Formats: sequence, structure tokens, C-alpha cells
Amino acid sequence: MKIIGPFKQVVTLANIPLRGAVSDESLEIIEEAGILIEQGKVQIVDNFLTLTSRFPKVEVQKIEGEKVAFPAWVDCHTHICFAGNRANDFAMRNSGKTYLEIATSGGGIWSSVKHTRQATEDELIKNLLTRVDFLVKQGITTIEVKSGYGLKLDAELKMLRAINHVQELVKPQIVPTCLAAHTLPKDFDGDSREYLDYVLHYILPVVQEEDLSNRVDIFIEQSAFQPEESRWFLEEAKKFGFDITVHADQFTPGSSRIAVEVGAKSADHLEATSEEDIQYLAKSDTVAVALPGASIGLGDSFAPARKLLDAGAILAIATDWNPGSAPMGNLITQASILASFQKLSTAEVLSAITFRAAHALGIQDKGRLSKDYWADMVCYDTDNFQDVIYRQGGLQASEVYIKGEKY
Ligand code: NIG
Ligand code: FE
Repeated sequence: MKIIGPFKQVVTLANIPLRGAVSDESLEIIEEAGILIEQGKVQIVDNFLTLTSRFPKVEVQKIEGEKVAFPAWVDCHTHICFAGNRANDFAMRNSGKTYLEIATSGGGIWSSVKHTRQATEDELIKNLLTRVDFLVKQGITTIEVKSGYGLKLDAELKMLRAINHVQELVKPQIVPTCLAAHTLPKDFDGDSREYLDYVLHYILPVVQEEDLSNRVDIFIEQSAFQPEESRWFLEEAKKFGFDITVHADQFTPGSSRIAVEVGAKSADHLEATSEEDIQYLAKSDTVAVALPGASIGLGDSFAPARKLLDAGAILAIATDWNPGSAPMGNLITQASILASFQKLSTAEVLSAITFRAAHALGIQDKGRLSKDYWADMVCYDTDNFQDVIYRQGGLQASEVYIKGEKY
């Protein structure tokens, strides 16, 4: 057992509901607080002096200076396992080139597939370690990582093995997701339905045998997989026992509905979700994941986060960090920008990058600082919790704790 403190403020998020709009007044802020931790889990958050006098024999890990602590952030959607660089895609997009022109001049997802296929597993591990470190330093201690730049058996397995290997080397939790259904690979001898059949019968069984991932993702879009073949694919993947997540409604509406109907854990992107589908998502248990990094990267509109929350949806925010549409990887900057454009309260942003994002990953013991949650925390040198979102990423995390231990 130990007590960490005193913190100027601890924002617990203990009592915030899983879904819907949240006002800042409903945040539980404990002033001059201490946190009692046992075996990596939070036991009590209370006034520091109250806590130390109640438990006089417990070791105290003293905090110097004024700091505010939050539950550590959760990034529930990334593509950080990749090789190569697509800076030229960004330049071409901003000079008015279309998706097709970028793809035909050697850019786009296929360019990342070629580089990732060429890379060794060790190179992918090295790249991943650098990116994981970049995320953890922001206070993110739970990181979802997708495959999806392999798009054939050996290369998808190489990616998933690299992602799993990294989990053995680092303290933050890495959640691997199989996105072999990212797009139809150019060198596949067959149509998209046949490729999905190949993923189902040749890739997913090995993923399961090797215990590489229990989550399956698909990109449903005109340029990738079509709604009805995707629904069939997801139903089949569910029969294997996989949890489902979907890249939905990024450019055209309709696919978040499929995510809800197959009982997906999350429907991610949603920039093009219709009014009707906002209501549909809001009545479901599927987490609506906004990816402002992709909106910023592509110069597109943001997901309708305000309307989703007002309708009662479970809203999470993630970086979508990938080499093409979202190369930034800064969660707080992206979430703060989304807050400005979508008029989100600080409490809504904090909920979206903590316990609501954890829920999208099926994780129930992270994202709040309350009894029996993991003591994963991020601290900032400030006396006011509002500064973190207000500074839009300009205020950097000063300490990160994973299971009660300093990173
Ligand atoms: O989530 N939308 C599809 N997939 C990624 C982009 C992948 C890429 O451009 O490499 C996304 O934005
Ligand atoms: Fe994505």
C-alpha cells in the first residue's frame, strides 16, 4: 500500500455516467488530495491529510509543487504499426490533388502497405516503440493498435506479432486489432467479397490460434468494402468470437447502422453520419468514436459529437494516428480542437478520452480514479484542471503513472 500526494486537485471522473452530455459542474474534483493505492489499484481518493492520518503507517510518495491528476488517457483507435512516410500525400492533398491522383502517383494506403510488407518484424517493433513512447509521454497508458497495412496472411501476422511483441516490452496496455479488411489489396486475385472470404478463412483462424487479437475491424466505404458484404463478414467474424469495431460513415453515411446492428463495440469516424443514424447510434451500446485527427489531416468536417452526446450516445475521442490521414498523434490537441468546433464541455472531453474510450475497448477498470480501477494517472503542473483542454495540448503532462508506478 502507498499514498501518493498531495495533489492540488484530483479529477476522479468517478460519478460521470457512461453515456450522454455532461456539465463541468458534475465533475468530482478533490482538492489537496491523496490517492491510496494497493497492488496497482486505487483504493481511496480523499483529502491528503485525512488519508495520511487515517493510515499513519502507510508509505507516502510525496508530490512536490502544484499538480493536478487525472485518470490516464486511453487512445482507442490507432494505426501506429507501419513503415514508410506519406508526407507527400499531405502536400498533394493540399495542392488540390484528389484521392485517386494521390493513389496513382504512388501514395495512399497502398504505399503504406508496400513499405510495411517490406519491413522486418524488428523494424516494425522499433517504429512502434517510438510511437508508443510518444503517446505515453502524453499520459496515454492504454493504446489500441490495428494491423491493416499487410493485407495478406504473412504480412498481417507480422504486424500483429510485432504489436503483441511490443506488449512484452512496455508497461502501457496495448490492445491489438485485426484490420485485414482495411481495403482490397491491389495484388489480390479476386473481388472484395472473395478477399473478405480469404480474411475469414485464412487470416482470422491463425490470428485466433496464435492469440494475436480478439478484435476485428473493417473499413466500410465506397472505396473499400460495401455495406452488405461487410455485414456478412462481421457476422461471420462474430461467430468466431471476435469483438467487432468498424470504420464507419467517414465519407458516406449508412455504415454506423451496420455497426450497431452487428453489436459492434464501437463505430469510428462518423464524419458523414446522418441525423437519423445519430439517433440510432445514441440508443445503442456501440461507442461512437470521433477521430478529429483525420478531420484535421484531411481538412474534412468533424464528427457530430455535440449531437451524438445530446442524443445520449457514448462518445469517445481517439487519435486515429496513421501515416496518411492522421499523422499527428496528439490526443489532447485533437480533442481540444474538436471541443471548440463541436462545443463540448471539458467534462465531455475528459470522459471521451478516459472511461468512455476504455468502454470502446471492452475495458471496465480504467479511466476513472475510484475504487478498484487501475491507478493509471496523468499529472500536469497546474492548479486548475481546466488548463489541460484550454491549452489545447500546449500544457504537457509532467508525470505518468501506470498501475501506481511512475513511468
Ligand atoms: O482511419 N479510413 C481508413 N483508414 C485510416 C486511414 C489509413 C491510411 O490512410 O493509411 C483512417 O483514417
Ligand atoms: Fe482509422
